Amino acid sequence: MSGPSVLLDTHNRVIRDLRISITDRCNFNCIYCLPETEEAANLFQSVAPEAKSSAPVPGKLPYPWKPRSQILSFEEIVRVIQVAASFGVDKIRITGGEPLLRRGIESLISQIAAIDLIRDLSLTTNGTHFPRLAKRLKEAGLGRVTISLDSLDRDNFKKITGHDRLAEVLKSICLAKSIGLTPLKVNAVIIRGLNDHEIVRLAKFALDEDIVMRFIEFMPLDSRKAWCRDHVVSGSEILRQIQSKYPLTRLPVANPSETSTRWSLGRGAAEVGIIAPVTQPFCGDCNRIRLTADGKIRTCLFSHHEHDLKPSLRKGSDTAELAARLQQIVLKKEPGHRINEADFVQPARTMSLIGG
Ligand code: 5AD
Ligand code: SF4
Repeated sequence: MSGPSVLLDTHNRVIRDLRISITDRCNFNCIYCLPETEEAANLFQSVAPEAKSSAPVPGKLPYPWKPRSQILSFEEIVRVIQVAASFGVDKIRITGGEPLLRRGIESLISQIAAIDLIRDLSLTTNGTHFPRLAKRLKEAGLGRVTISLDSLDRDNFKKITGHDRLAEVLKSICLAKSIGLTPLKVNAVIIRGLNDHEIVRLAKFALDEDIVMRFIEFMPLDSRKAWCRDHVVSGSEILRQIQSKYPLTRLPVANPSETSTRWSLGRGAAEVGIIAPVTQPFCGDCNRIRLTADGKIRTCLFSHHEHDLKPSLRKGSDTAELAARLQQIVLKKEPGHRINEADFVQPARTMSLIGG
């Protein structure tokens, strides 16, 4: 293969991390992502009346799921990974939608795990289908998981996700630990007026369970486009709340591309991570690109333009052609998101279609 052996963008960033959405489907309706629920409309009503006026029909999607024919096959996904790996991409995260809804996922995991150059293989899940699949995923070679948990209160959990399934998610967290899908990270998106009163409780949960609890600022990636700054609880505010109850020690930066600032809770592996893309953007060190379930490369969560790999994959392009295409695409990676610019426009796709 000619040319540089890494995926270098025009801002001197080297891509090492590929996040792959393997399905656009989800069985949850998280308020910050796919909030087609009455609760979401009510919550957002005061700040985004237009979100209410386009009234949600509970259970109805803002867009239809993509037909199977448009979704990349496992073989196509593995091909993209192999090409990316040949450029030094060594970190793969499988996401969705809810990735565990994709039938046969353990087969995909074992094919990725068999690629020697991949050193970190993880998956983000809402935890509902995890108990059924956990052991098979581990045996297939999955390294670790991230589980979403935005509330420890049953009613609030239901309000946030649209589903009364807190107990199953808690069970998944225990299970992931017990079978060694670790270090286990648990994600909580914090929204003002909704779960900001649970911040300290969630930090205590990290301490009790000896896990990494990551607090994430609400980003404008929701399907109702109801995001507004008033709903964002800043990373520094989250940190202050936790520090008022627990002494935290800043952990050294292991890798500049890390999205979170990490804090030890002082005991075992218990850790707090603060992810503050809105108030403290970390785009300058971003080493990530994303592949959507329908085969588009996104060079940023907030991209307005996508690069369709599916035609090349399906017309039988050889590896050298795919590699050249990937290199060209990476050159288009944006310097950063523009959430804080006056002319910011939310991307058409929601988080459920991009993958966290
Ligand atoms: N803002 C911040 N994080 C989000 N996620 C989904 N939507 C949003 C949003 N609008 C995160 C959740 C989930 C992961 C897949 O993406 O934490 O765990
Ligand atoms: Fe929630 Fe993830 Fe489903 Fe979005 S894709 S609704 S964040 S579980």
